[in-house]
Amino acid sequence: MRMFVTGHRGYIGSHLVDVLKQEGHTVVGCDLGLFRGCNWEPIVEPDVDLDKDVRTVEASDLDGSDCVMHLAAISNDPMGDLDPQITFDINRDASIRLARIAKQAGVPRFLFAGSCSIYGQGEKLDLDEGDPLNPLTAYARSKIETEEAVSKLADANFSPAYLRNATAYGHSPVLRIDLVVNNLLASALSYGEIRIMSDGSPWRPLIHCRDIARAFAAFAAAPKEAIHNQAINVGGNAENYQVRDVGDQVQRLIPSAKVVYTGEVGADPRNYRVNFDKLSRHLPDFKLQYNLVSGMEELHRKMVEHGFSKKDFEGDQFVRLRTLKGRFHLLNA
Ligand SMILES: NC(=O)c1ccc[n+]([C@@H]2O[C@H](COP(=O)([O-])OP(=O)(O)OC[C@H]3O[C@@H](n4cnc5c(N)ncnc54)[C@H](O)[C@@H]3O)[C@@H](O)[C@H]2O)c1
Repeated sequence: MRMFVTGHRGYIGSHLVDVLKQEGHTVVGCDLGLFRGCNWEPIVEPDVDLDKDVRTVEASDLDGSDCVMHLAAISNDPMGDLDPQITFDINRDASIRLARIAKQAGVPRFLFAGSCSIYGQGEKLDLDEGDPLNPLTAYARSKIETEEAVSKLADANFSPAYLRNATAYGHSPVLRIDLVVNNLLASALSYGEIRIMSDGSPWRPLIHCRDIARAFAAFAAAPKEAIHNQAINVGGNAENYQVRDVGDQVQRLIPSAKVVYTGEVGADPRNYRVNFDKLSRHLPDFKLQYNLVSGMEELHRKMVEHGFSKKDFEGDQFVRLRTLKGRFHLLNA
């Protein structure tokens, strides 16, 4: 199949190109390259590489595609707060426009990279797709508003689906350390301190970034009735953790590191434990390849191999917000 992947040069997208090519698909990638040069390992290149802003994609770019996998986004809460309007322009308006163009171009399937962060502070601790949403940030709102608008485009010939992904962690050729698991491991390695910014009690659903990429491939292959206009949480019931559990896992890997509660964010308002039963019901053959222990062991091994240091922790290369601040002109070009 011919897969049109946006954001293919990012943390998850770089795995996705590899997964799809290993499955024998033709991959067209579309990415503005906001984090070009930030990769710590070579990435697998797509068959066709469109170096362009998703806001300027045209129907002709999508000709012959069997599926659009839309990952390009301003990809976290702090970046969203930097300029909420750009987050809405790219994450919401450009996503809705891309879905419309895909439909016009006759692409039958449109897979959207949504997020479990739309549950925000959950009112109960076993949130499923039918539960009320409680977005706390521009990033989360942009994801919900896209789901709502794109769902109106669904018809017999156009099947959108919304992968509400858990928080990613783990090794990628385009590593980022601004995600909780990677951050705690990186701070333990660089400073000997596991710096937990809250009191450690908030729940987070976690998933290895390669498993998110594998989920996209599974959604592309699934029967239409399994995914048609469905929002589905992507993660595993056993992979919900309190931040302090993550700290404990880091300490098992690096016993000399000390847990330090910095209290920087006070009581972290983002607290959500998520139910993933719908994923098992709709895509019964899809299984996670990683759990937190195996995923962290792999990342720890990679960080040691790469000689991950204080300079890496403090630099721009692995922190999206810092890189983006220096490259904002790319978004306003
Ligand atoms: N990482 C997570 O924990 C997580 C969890 C849930 C959902 N998601 C979603 O998955 C997707 C991918 O996340 P990621 O962690 O790989 O992010 P990332 O920041 O590593 O990659 C995003 C990619 O999109 C590209 N991009 C951004 N704006 C663009 C534009 N206007 N035009 C073209 N390309 C553009 C960037 O250059 C980058 O390569 C995002 O939509 C994100 O919101 C991520």
